[in-house]
Amino acid sequence: MSLNIKLNENFFNVKKSYLFSEIAKRVKEYSEKNPEKKIIRLGIGDVTLPLPRVAVTALKKAADEMGSAATFRGYAPEYGYDFLREKIADYYKRFSVSRNSEEIFVSDGAKSDVGNIVDILGDNEILIPDPVYPVYLDSNVMSGRKISLLKGTRENGFLPMPGSTEKKPYVIYLCSPNNPTGAVYSREQLKAWVDFANEAGSLIIFDSAYEAFISGDYPHSIYEIDGTDSCAVEICSFSKTAGFTGTRCAWSVFPDKLTVGDTKLSALWSRRQATKFNGVPYVVQRAAEAVLTDEGIKECKALVEYYMENARIIAAALKNSEIEFVGGENSPYLWLKCPKNMGSWEFFDYLLESAQLVGTPGAGFGEAGEGYFRLTSFGSRENTLEAAKRIDALFGKN
Ligand code: MLT
Repeated sequence: MSLNIKLNENFFNVKKSYLFSEIAKRVKEYSEKNPEKKIIRLGIGDVTLPLPRVAVTALKKAADEMGSAATFRGYAPEYGYDFLREKIADYYKRFSVSRNSEEIFVSDGAKSDVGNIVDILGDNEILIPDPVYPVYLDSNVMSGRKISLLKGTRENGFLPMPGSTEKKPYVIYLCSPNNPTGAVYSREQLKAWVDFANEAGSLIIFDSAYEAFISGDYPHSIYEIDGTDSCAVEICSFSKTAGFTGTRCAWSVFPDKLTVGDTKLSALWSRRQATKFNGVPYVVQRAAEAVLTDEGIKECKALVEYYMENARIIAAALKNSEIEFVGGENSPYLWLKCPKNMGSWEFFDYLLESAQLVGTPGAGFGEAGEGYFRLTSFGSRENTLEAAKRIDALFGKN
């Protein structure tokens, strides 16, 4: 017999499966039918290099502490251990940003924070760039919010601006460097967004998960822009910078001055986390702390440099194939126009069938991504070189 309860019917309005689950399903089906074929996966942005040495050393040491009665720890504080919150606050000094450790909330992932922040926000109108990381849209659709999309196009450099958008209080999601296009907002552009937000009392949720990949003169944190304390939450992650996709650690910043009337957003977030989250494991927080030491940052830079060399290898193959693309300069993602005017999923199938190469269909990041495709530079060097060879073989001009 079926249940008689009511469901959250908003779930009927999201796509049936999550983008990366759908890709994994299609690749599994192909691989089962073609077991002899070597598939190269440049789809989901999952890292392949091992953890930095400092992180492994810290994990082992912390594991030993957990195995001794004198140093064992139980529940971690819901907001993160002070040692890590302080280290993250220190990290911001590199960008001349001053943050208080109490404004920093450690979590198990930027994806969780991006998805969970909806809990503390009311029925606001939402502005979301398109194309962008699908969690922003999905989590707001699941909550039944009214959503307007801001198109990122070749003409605006995939960096939508407020332009003539009506001035009213929105919740605005920004991601810079952008996933999937790799486009990065300049200081002036971010300032325009901050001014727009402050004029009507809007909130910006700024996802800086890819800041470590910036090599040009762009802001790494939205707090580098004046006036941001009153309008922005920032969410950042150790996943891509330090290879923590499977280790899980991230943080969100809720500035003390971020208020609605006299309610601090940080107070609601604290309350939410205390009720629904039990903290990141001690061993993981020690590893994250190690990653933010000078030595750790040096090791992470080497990881980033390795992936950016992969990006250059893919970029060279795309250039040689006269495939139009952007990204890969301040971001681990390359965003390309599907050749021969193919649709995103059509190109996905074509590339899988003819080159056993997996990427991410642009349409999965929003309607404006239709006709585009994302390749990640997070593969191993060997697989990246092989992928470049296969692109050359299919489309190369020389
Ligand atoms: C991506 O491939 O866009 C991301 O890795 C997915 C994620 O971070 O959840």
